[in-house]
Amino acid sequence: MAVLVTGGAGYIGSHICLELIECGYDIVVVDNFSNSKFEALRRVMEMGNQSFPVYNLDLHNQKELSTIFDRHSIDAVIHLAGYKSVRDSTIDPINYYWNNIVSTLTLLEVMQMQDVYKLVFSSSATVYKASDKMPITEDYPLEACNPYGRTKLIIEQLLKDVHDSDPNWHITILRYFNPIGAHKSGRIGEDSNGTPNNLVPYLSNVAIGNYPKLYIFGNDYPTKDGTGVRDYIHVVDLAKGHIRALSRMEDMKGLEVFNLGTGTGYSVLELVKAFSQVSKKEIAYTITSRRNGDVAECYADVTKANNQLGWQAEKDIHEMCQDAWRWQQQNPNGY
Ligand code: UFG
Repeated sequence: MAVLVTGGAGYIGSHICLELIECGYDIVVVDNFSNSKFEALRRVMEMGNQSFPVYNLDLHNQKELSTIFDRHSIDAVIHLAGYKSVRDSTIDPINYYWNNIVSTLTLLEVMQMQDVYKLVFSSSATVYKASDKMPITEDYPLEACNPYGRTKLIIEQLLKDVHDSDPNWHITILRYFNPIGAHKSGRIGEDSNGTPNNLVPYLSNVAIGNYPKLYIFGNDYPTKDGTGVRDYIHVVDLAKGHIRALSRMEDMKGLEVFNLGTGTGYSVLELVKAFSQVSKKEIAYTITSRRNGDVAECYADVTKANNQLGWQAEKDIHEMCQDAWRWQQQNPNGY
Protein backbone atom coordinates (compact mmCIF):
# COMPACT_ATOMS: atom_id res chain seq x y z
CA MET A 1 0.00 0.00 0.00
CA ALA A 2 1.41 3.37 -0.98
CA VAL A 3 0.78 7.01 -0.13
CA LEU A 4 0.45 9.37 -3.08
CA VAL A 5 2.03 12.76 -2.36
CA THR A 6 0.91 15.53 -4.71
CA GLY A 7 3.37 18.40 -4.83
CA GLY A 8 5.92 16.09 -3.24
CA ALA A 9 8.92 17.87 -4.77
CA GLY A 10 8.17 21.19 -3.05
CA TYR A 11 9.60 22.62 0.14
CA ILE A 12 7.11 20.96 2.49
CA GLY A 13 6.51 17.99 0.20
CA SER A 14 10.15 16.91 0.07
CA HIS A 15 10.37 16.90 3.87
CA ILE A 16 7.14 14.89 4.11
CA CYS A 17 8.42 12.36 1.55
CA LEU A 18 11.56 11.80 3.60
CA GLU A 19 9.58 11.35 6.84
CA LEU A 20 7.22 8.91 5.12
CA ILE A 21 10.13 6.81 3.86
CA GLU A 22 11.78 6.85 7.25
CA CYS A 23 8.51 5.66 8.80
CA GLY A 24 8.36 2.75 6.36
CA TYR A 25 5.70 3.99 3.94
CA ASP A 26 5.89 3.33 0.20
CA ILE A 27 5.38 6.57 -1.67
CA VAL A 28 4.43 7.76 -5.13
CA VAL A 29 4.98 11.41 -6.04
CA VAL A 30 3.07 13.54 -8.53
CA ASP A 31 4.40 17.02 -9.22
CA ASN A 32 4.30 19.32 -12.24
CA PHE A 33 7.58 20.96 -11.15
CA SER A 34 6.14 24.43 -11.76
CA ASN A 35 7.76 25.65 -8.53
CA SER A 36 10.00 22.76 -7.57
CA LYS A 37 12.93 20.74 -8.82
CA PHE A 38 13.51 17.04 -9.32
CA GLU A 39 16.81 17.44 -7.50
CA ALA A 40 14.89 17.75 -4.22
CA LEU A 41 13.45 14.26 -4.74
CA ARG A 42 16.76 12.87 -5.93
CA ARG A 43 18.24 13.97 -2.61
CA VAL A 44 15.29 12.51 -0.68
CA MET A 45 15.92 9.18 -2.43
CA GLU A 46 19.58 9.36 -1.52
CA MET A 47 18.92 10.35 2.08
CA GLY A 48 16.18 7.76 2.50
CA ASN A 49 18.26 5.17 0.67
CA GLN A 50 15.28 4.27 -1.46
CA SER A 51 13.90 5.22 -4.84
CA PHE A 52 10.21 5.74 -5.54
CA PRO A 53 8.05 6.54 -8.56
CA VAL A 54 7.86 10.21 -9.52
CA TYR A 55 5.40 11.46 -12.14
CA ASN A 56 5.85 14.81 -13.83
CA LEU A 57 2.16 15.46 -14.16
CA ASP A 58 -0.36 18.22 -13.80
CA LEU A 59 -3.27 17.15 -11.60
CA HIS A 60 -5.73 18.48 -14.16
CA ASN A 61 -4.78 15.53 -16.35
CA GLN A 62 -7.47 13.18 -15.11
CA LYS A 63 -6.66 10.35 -17.48
CA GLU A 64 -2.98 10.14 -16.58
CA LEU A 65 -3.75 10.58 -12.90
CA SER A 66 -6.15 7.66 -13.05
CA THR A 67 -3.47 5.55 -14.70
CA ILE A 68 -1.18 6.21 -11.74
CA PHE A 69 -3.86 4.89 -9.39
CA ASP A 70 -4.24 1.83 -11.68
CA ARG A 71 -0.52 1.20 -11.65
CA HIS A 72 0.08 1.55 -7.91
CA SER A 73 -1.87 0.31 -4.97
CA ILE A 74 -2.61 3.69 -3.42
CA ASP A 75 -4.19 3.72 0.00
CA ALA A 76 -4.11 7.42 0.90
CA VAL A 77 -3.26 10.80 -0.59
CA ILE A 78 -1.41 13.74 0.94
CA HIS A 79 -2.46 16.68 -1.21
CA LEU A 80 0.01 19.54 -1.19
CA ALA A 81 0.11 20.57 -4.85
CA GLY A 82 -0.91 24.17 -5.41
CA TYR A 83 0.27 27.71 -5.92
CA LYS A 84 1.13 29.50 -2.68
CA SER A 85 2.03 33.13 -3.27
CA VAL A 86 -0.41 35.62 -1.77
CA ARG A 87 0.96 38.38 -4.01
CA ASP A 88 0.76 36.39 -7.27
CA SER A 89 -2.78 35.35 -6.39
CA THR A 90 -3.89 38.98 -6.34
CA ILE A 91 -2.27 39.57 -9.75
CA ASP A 92 -3.65 36.47 -11.45
CA PRO A 93 -6.63 35.16 -9.48
CA ILE A 94 -8.08 33.16 -12.38
CA ASN A 95 -4.91 31.15 -12.62
CA TYR A 96 -4.95 30.58 -8.84
CA TYR A 97 -8.56 29.42 -8.74
CA TRP A 98 -8.01 27.23 -11.78
CA ASN A 99 -4.80 25.71 -10.55
CA ASN A 100 -5.66 25.11 -6.90
CA ILE A 101 -9.37 24.33 -7.02
CA VAL A 102 -9.92 22.58 -10.33
CA SER A 103 -6.93 20.30 -9.78
CA THR A 104 -8.29 19.35 -6.34
CA LEU A 105 -11.68 18.52 -7.88
CA THR A 106 -9.97 16.33 -10.46
CA LEU A 107 -7.99 14.56 -7.75
CA LEU A 108 -11.14 13.94 -5.68
CA GLU A 109 -12.96 12.62 -8.72
CA VAL A 110 -10.17 10.18 -9.48
CA MET A 111 -9.92 9.11 -5.84
CA GLN A 112 -13.64 8.41 -5.77
CA MET A 113 -13.51 6.44 -9.01
CA GLN A 114 -10.61 4.42 -7.65
CA ASP A 115 -12.20 3.85 -4.21
CA VAL A 116 -9.43 5.69 -2.36
CA TYR A 117 -11.04 7.67 0.43
CA LYS A 118 -8.21 8.79 2.70
CA LEU A 119 -6.96 12.31 2.21
CA VAL A 120 -4.70 14.69 4.15
CA PHE A 121 -5.06 18.23 2.86
CA SER A 122 -2.53 21.03 3.20
CA SER A 123 -4.39 24.13 4.37
CA SER A 124 -3.20 27.32 5.99
CA ALA A 125 -3.76 29.63 8.94
CA THR A 126 -4.61 32.20 6.33
CA VAL A 127 -8.19 30.81 6.35
CA TYR A 128 -8.82 32.36 9.79
CA LYS A 129 -10.60 35.70 10.07
CA ALA A 130 -8.24 38.47 11.24
CA SER A 131 -8.54 38.86 14.99
CA ASP A 132 -6.83 40.26 18.05
CA LYS A 133 -7.90 37.27 20.09
CA MET A 134 -4.99 34.83 20.22
CA PRO A 135 -4.21 31.94 20.19
CA ILE A 136 -6.44 30.68 17.39
CA THR A 137 -8.40 27.47 17.89
CA GLU A 138 -9.75 25.38 15.01
CA ASP A 139 -13.33 26.54 15.59
CA TYR A 140 -12.39 30.18 15.12
CA PRO A 141 -14.40 32.04 12.39
CA LEU A 142 -13.05 31.61 8.89
CA GLU A 143 -12.59 34.31 6.29
CA ALA A 144 -9.83 34.61 3.75
CA CYS A 145 -8.65 38.02 2.64
CA ASN A 146 -6.84 37.23 -0.63
CA PRO A 147 -7.41 34.85 -3.58
CA TYR A 148 -4.75 32.38 -2.37
CA GLY A 149 -6.41 32.15 1.03
CA ARG A 150 -9.82 31.82 -0.60
CA THR A 151 -8.65 28.85 -2.68
CA LYS A 152 -7.66 27.11 0.58
CA LEU A 153 -10.97 28.03 2.22
CA ILE A 154 -13.05 26.93 -0.77
CA ILE A 155 -11.21 23.60 -0.88
CA GLU A 156 -11.84 23.11 2.86
CA GLN A 157 -15.55 23.75 2.26
CA LEU A 158 -15.74 21.44 -0.69
CA LEU A 159 -13.96 18.72 1.30
CA LYS A 160 -16.60 19.06 3.98
CA ASP A 161 -19.36 18.65 1.40
CA VAL A 162 -17.63 15.64 -0.13
CA HIS A 163 -17.25 14.07 3.29
CA ASP A 164 -20.89 14.76 4.23
CA SER A 165 -22.05 13.12 1.02
CA ASP A 166 -20.30 9.81 1.66
CA PRO A 167 -19.20 8.41 5.04
CA ASN A 168 -16.42 6.39 3.38
CA TRP A 169 -14.25 9.50 3.25
CA HIS A 170 -11.59 10.07 5.89
CA ILE A 171 -10.27 13.60 5.46
CA THR A 172 -7.79 15.46 7.66
CA ILE A 173 -7.27 19.15 7.05
CA LEU A 174 -4.02 20.55 8.44
CA ARG A 175 -3.80 24.31 8.86
CA TYR A 176 -0.15 25.29 8.76
CA PHE A 177 1.11 28.35 10.55
CA ASN A 178 4.52 29.60 9.32
CA PRO A 179 6.77 26.72 8.23
CA ILE A 180 10.48 27.58 8.21
CA GLY A 181 13.82 25.79 8.60
CA ALA A 182 15.14 22.82 6.69
CA HIS A 183 16.24 19.24 7.21
CA LYS A 184 19.18 19.13 9.64
CA SER A 185 21.44 17.68 6.94
CA GLY A 186 21.14 20.94 4.99
CA ARG A 187 20.42 18.89 1.86
CA ILE A 188 16.74 19.76 1.39
CA GLY A 189 15.14 23.11 2.14
CA GLU A 190 13.21 26.03 0.71
CA ASP A 191 14.28 27.04 -2.79
CA SER A 192 12.30 30.20 -3.57
CA ASN A 193 11.64 31.05 -7.19
CA GLY A 194 12.93 34.61 -7.67
CA THR A 195 12.93 37.09 -4.80
CA PRO A 196 11.42 35.47 -1.73
CA ASN A 197 8.26 37.01 -0.27
CA ASN A 198 8.53 35.31 3.09
CA LEU A 199 10.58 36.49 6.01
CA VAL A 200 13.03 33.65 6.64
CA PRO A 201 14.14 33.00 3.04
CA TYR A 202 14.62 36.76 2.62
CA LEU A 203 16.48 37.02 5.92
CA SER A 204 18.87 34.18 5.08
CA ASN A 205 19.61 35.77 1.71
CA VAL A 206 20.53 38.97 3.52
CA ALA A 207 22.73 37.02 5.94
CA ILE A 208 24.60 35.35 3.08
CA GLY A 209 25.06 38.64 1.25
CA ASN A 210 22.66 38.18 -1.70
CA TYR A 211 20.62 41.21 -0.59
CA PRO A 212 21.93 44.27 1.26
CA LYS A 213 19.20 44.45 3.89
CA LEU A 214 15.85 43.26 5.15
CA TYR A 215 12.77 45.47 4.93
CA ILE A 216 10.62 45.09 8.00
CA PHE A 217 7.00 45.75 7.12
CA GLY A 218 5.85 48.00 9.95
CA ASN A 219 6.85 48.53 13.58
CA ASP A 220 3.62 50.15 14.68
CA TYR A 221 1.54 47.03 15.30
CA PRO A 222 0.03 46.51 18.77
CA THR A 223 2.56 43.73 19.51
CA LYS A 224 5.44 43.28 21.98
CA ASP A 225 7.89 45.36 19.88
CA GLY A 226 5.60 46.76 17.17
CA THR A 227 6.57 44.23 14.48
CA GLY A 228 4.35 41.38 13.25
CA VAL A 229 4.11 38.24 15.37
CA ARG A 230 3.83 34.76 13.81
CA ASP A 231 3.88 31.14 14.88
CA TYR A 232 6.99 29.76 13.14
CA ILE A 233 7.14 25.98 12.94
CA HIS A 234 10.05 23.80 11.85
CA VAL A 235 9.24 22.13 8.53
CA VAL A 236 10.34 18.74 9.91
CA ASP A 237 7.90 19.06 12.84
CA LEU A 238 5.24 19.98 10.28
CA ALA A 239 6.11 16.93 8.18
CA LYS A 240 5.81 14.72 11.27
CA GLY A 241 2.33 16.14 11.83
CA HIS A 242 1.31 14.66 8.47
CA ILE A 243 2.59 11.22 9.44
CA ARG A 244 0.59 11.38 12.68
CA ALA A 245 -2.50 12.49 10.75
CA LEU A 246 -2.11 9.59 8.37
CA SER A 247 -1.60 7.01 11.07
CA ARG A 248 -4.53 8.27 13.17
CA MET A 249 -6.96 8.60 10.29
CA GLU A 250 -8.68 5.28 10.85
CA ASP A 251 -9.42 6.12 14.51
CA MET A 252 -10.87 9.52 13.81
CA LYS A 253 -14.20 10.87 12.69
CA GLY A 254 -14.64 11.32 8.95
CA LEU A 255 -13.34 14.88 8.75
CA GLU A 256 -11.04 16.58 11.22
CA VAL A 257 -9.19 19.89 11.19
CA PHE A 258 -5.95 20.57 13.08
CA ASN A 259 -3.70 23.56 13.57
CA LEU A 260 -0.03 22.77 13.09
CA GLY A 261 2.09 25.36 14.86
CA THR A 262 4.12 25.63 18.04
CA GLY A 263 1.63 27.79 19.92
CA THR A 264 4.25 30.50 20.47
CA GLY A 265 4.46 33.79 18.60
CA TYR A 266 7.75 35.49 17.66
CA SER A 267 8.07 39.02 16.32
CA VAL A 268 10.04 39.91 13.20
CA LEU A 269 12.68 41.57 15.38
CA GLU A 270 12.96 38.49 17.60
CA LEU A 271 13.47 36.35 14.53
CA VAL A 272 16.10 38.71 13.15
CA LYS A 273 17.92 38.50 16.49
CA ALA A 274 17.77 34.69 16.60
CA PHE A 275 18.95 34.43 13.01
CA SER A 276 21.75 36.87 13.64
CA GLN A 277 22.90 34.82 16.66
CA VAL A 278 23.02 31.50 14.83
CA SER A 279 24.56 32.88 11.63
CA LYS A 280 26.94 35.18 13.51
CA LYS A 281 26.07 37.82 10.92
CA GLU A 282 24.90 41.33 11.44
CA ILE A 283 21.49 41.63 9.68
CA ALA A 284 20.95 45.11 8.28
CA TYR A 285 17.33 46.16 8.20
CA THR A 286 15.09 49.15 7.50
CA ILE A 287 11.59 49.64 8.83
CA THR A 288 9.14 50.38 6.02
CA SER A 289 5.37 50.68 5.89
CA ARG A 290 3.04 47.80 6.68
CA ARG A 291 2.48 45.22 3.95
CA ASN A 292 -1.07 45.07 2.62
CA GLY A 293 -3.07 42.21 4.05
CA ASP A 294 -0.71 41.50 6.98
CA VAL A 295 -2.18 40.97 10.45
CA ALA A 296 -0.50 42.07 13.68
CA GLU A 297 -0.41 38.66 15.33
CA CYS A 298 -1.18 35.11 14.36
CA TYR A 299 -0.39 32.09 16.51
CA ALA A 300 -2.03 28.78 17.08
CA ASP A 301 -3.74 26.96 19.88
CA VAL A 302 -2.33 23.48 19.27
CA THR A 303 -4.18 21.65 22.04
CA LYS A 304 -6.30 19.66 19.60
CA ALA A 305 -3.31 18.32 17.64
CA ASN A 306 -1.51 17.57 20.92
CA ASN A 307 -4.47 15.63 22.33
CA GLN A 308 -5.94 13.93 19.30
CA LEU A 309 -2.94 13.41 17.03
CA GLY A 310 -0.48 12.89 19.87
CA TRP A 311 1.72 15.39 18.05
CA GLN A 312 3.73 18.30 19.32
CA ALA A 313 6.29 20.54 17.63
CA GLU A 314 9.69 19.86 19.20
CA LYS A 315 12.14 22.24 17.59
CA ASP A 316 12.62 25.76 18.93
CA ILE A 317 13.26 29.00 17.08
CA HIS A 318 17.07 28.63 17.32
CA GLU A 319 17.03 25.21 15.73
CA MET A 320 14.71 26.54 13.01
CA CYS A 321 17.15 29.38 12.25
CA GLN A 322 20.19 27.10 12.50
CA ASP A 323 18.74 24.64 10.00
CA ALA A 324 17.56 27.39 7.63
CA TRP A 325 21.05 28.88 7.78
CA ARG A 326 22.79 25.53 7.14
CA TRP A 327 20.59 24.98 4.08
CA GLN A 328 21.32 28.51 2.83
CA GLN A 329 25.08 28.12 3.28
CA GLN A 330 25.25 24.70 1.67
CA ASN A 331 22.96 25.74 -1.20
CA PRO A 332 23.54 29.45 -1.80
CA ASN A 333 21.73 29.24 -5.14
CA GLY A 334 19.12 26.66 -4.15
CA TYR A 335 19.10 23.22 -5.76
N1 UFG B 1 8.02 40.34 6.83
C1 UFG B 1 8.88 41.42 6.81
N2 UFG B 1 9.74 41.52 5.74
C2 UFG B 1 9.79 40.61 4.73
C3 UFG B 1 8.89 39.51 4.78
C4 UFG B 1 8.02 39.41 5.84
O1 UFG B 1 8.88 42.26 7.70
O2 UFG B 1 10.58 40.78 3.80
C5 UFG B 1 7.13 40.18 8.01
C6 UFG B 1 5.63 40.19 7.67
O3 UFG B 1 5.15 41.51 7.66
C7 UFG B 1 5.07 39.32 8.79
C8 UFG B 1 6.18 38.31 9.07
O4 UFG B 1 7.37 38.91 8.55
O5 UFG B 1 4.87 40.09 9.94
C9 UFG B 1 5.97 36.97 8.41
O6 UFG B 1 5.74 37.16 7.01
P1 UFG B 1 5.82 35.95 5.96
O7 UFG B 1 5.63 36.55 4.61
O8 UFG B 1 7.03 35.14 6.20
O9 UFG B 1 4.59 35.04 6.35
P2 UFG B 1 3.03 35.40 6.43
O10 UFG B 1 2.63 35.25 7.86
O11 UFG B 1 2.68 36.67 5.78
O12 UFG B 1 2.40 34.28 5.48
C10 UFG B 1 2.63 32.93 5.68
C11 UFG B 1 2.59 32.20 4.34
C12 UFG B 1 1.22 32.22 3.76
C13 UFG B 1 0.24 31.71 4.74
C14 UFG B 1 0.33 32.47 6.04
C15 UFG B 1 -0.56 31.86 7.08
O13 UFG B 1 3.48 32.82 3.45
O14 UFG B 1 1.21 31.37 2.63
O15 UFG B 1 1.67 32.44 6.54
O16 UFG B 1 -0.71 32.69 8.16
F1 UFG B 1 -1.00 31.84 4.25
